[in-house]
Amino acid sequence: MGKIKVGIIFGGMSTENEVSVVSAGSILENIDREKYEVFPIYIDKEGKWYKYIEDGRKKVLGEKVENIVEIENIISYIQRLDVIFPVLHGLYGEDGTIQGLFELLKIPYVGCKVLASSVGMDKVYTKIVFEKAGINQTPYEYVRKYKNKYIYVDKNFDEKILDLKEIAKKITEKLEFPMFIKPSNSGSSVGVKKAENENELIENIEYASKFDNKILIEQGVIGKEVECAVLGNEKVIASCVGEIKAADEFYSYDAKYKNEESKTEIPANISEEISEEIRKEAIKAFKAIDGKGLSRVDFFVENKTNRIIINEINTMPGFTDISMYPKMFAKSGISYEKLITNLIELALEK
Ligand SMILES: Nc1ncnc2c1ncn2[C@@H]1O[C@H](COP(=O)(O)OP(=O)(O)O)[C@@H](O)[C@H]1O
Ligand SMILES: [Mg+2]
Repeated sequence: MGKIKVGIIFGGMSTENEVSVVSAGSILENIDREKYEVFPIYIDKEGKWYKYIEDGRKKVLGEKVENIVEIENIISYIQRLDVIFPVLHGLYGEDGTIQGLFELLKIPYVGCKVLASSVGMDKVYTKIVFEKAGINQTPYEYVRKYKNKYIYVDKNFDEKILDLKEIAKKITEKLEFPMFIKPSNSGSSVGVKKAENENELIENIEYASKFDNKILIEQGVIGKEVECAVLGNEKVIASCVGEIKAADEFYSYDAKYKNEESKTEIPANISEEISEEIRKEAIKAFKAIDGKGLSRVDFFVENKTNRIIINEINTMPGFTDISMYPKMFAKSGISYEKLITNLIELALEK
C-alpha cells in the first residue's frame, strides 16, 4: 500500500493567519513521513491558495511564507488527496466554511464538522448550547448591531432597538462589573475588552462591534484560567489540565503572543478533584457541540468558590509544538507526532 496523501492547509483569511503558519511549520516538521505523503497548502489573507514547496534546509515557516506556487484549480488539486488537516484558526477555517467545502467534495478531514465548527466559533451560540447542556458558565447578555442601530436581544430572542445608554442600563441591572465585552466571532482575544463601569461598557460595545455585529457581554470571573484538551470521535479522551498565567490584566492578544512574561503551567495548580471535574465537563462540552477529532476547552476556576466555569471551546486550537493542546497531551503521554497520526486516523474513520 502506498503512503496516505495528506493535505496540510494553513494560513487563511483570518486575524490568526500567522499563528496558523507557525502551527503548520511544527506539523510539517513532526508528521510521520513513513506513513504520509504531505501536500502543504498555504492560503493567504486574501484567500488565494498556493502549493508550499518544502525546502529540506529551511524547516520552520517564517513570518512571510515563501516558496509558494499558486494553485489554479483548487478543487481538482485537493480532490486527489486522501485526507486534509486544516490547521486554520478563526474565520474561514475554524468556523465551518472550509469544512463545508470538504463535505461537498467528500474528502475526509481532521477535526470538527460544519455544525460544531460554526457553533464553537460563535461565542453567543456556544453559550446557548452549553446552557442547554447544563454546563456552568458566567451570566451573559447579547447585543446586535444592524447598520447604525444597536439591538438588545433578550433570552427569548425578543429584540428591542435601543440606544447604547439604555442597553448599558439593562445590562448593569443583570450583570456585575467587571464585565468582558467580546465580538461573538473572534479569536486570539481580538476585540475583547474588560469594562469596570458603565462608560467603559458603552465604549467597549462600540469597539467590539467593529469586529462583528454580534456582541457578547459577560460577567467577569475572578479566578484561575485553565484549559483541557480533548481527542476522539465517539470515544473521547481528555488530557491533564493546564493553567494560563497571563502577564496582563487578562489573556489579551499581547499577553498571548507578545508578552513573554505570560506563563503556562502543566499540570495546573489545582486539586485532583477539580481537575477530574474539568476533564469530565470538557468532554461533555465537546459532545454537546457535536465535536469530532479535537478541541481545547477553556475554563475558569473561581477563586472564592472553587467552582469551575466554562469559557469557550476552540475547535482548532493553536497547534505549534509548544502550544497548550499538544503540550497537555504530551504530559498525558501522547507525543506530538503520535497526536498528528491519531488525528489523521480519526479523520479517516469519521
Ligand atoms: N468572563 C470572563 N471573566 C474573566 N476573564 C475573561 C472572561 N472572558 C474572557 N476573559 C479573558 O479574556 C481572554 C479572551 O477571551 P476569550 O473569550 O477566551 O476570547 P478568544 O476566543 O479570543 O480567546 C480570556 O483568555 C480571559 O483572559
Ligand atoms: Mg480564549
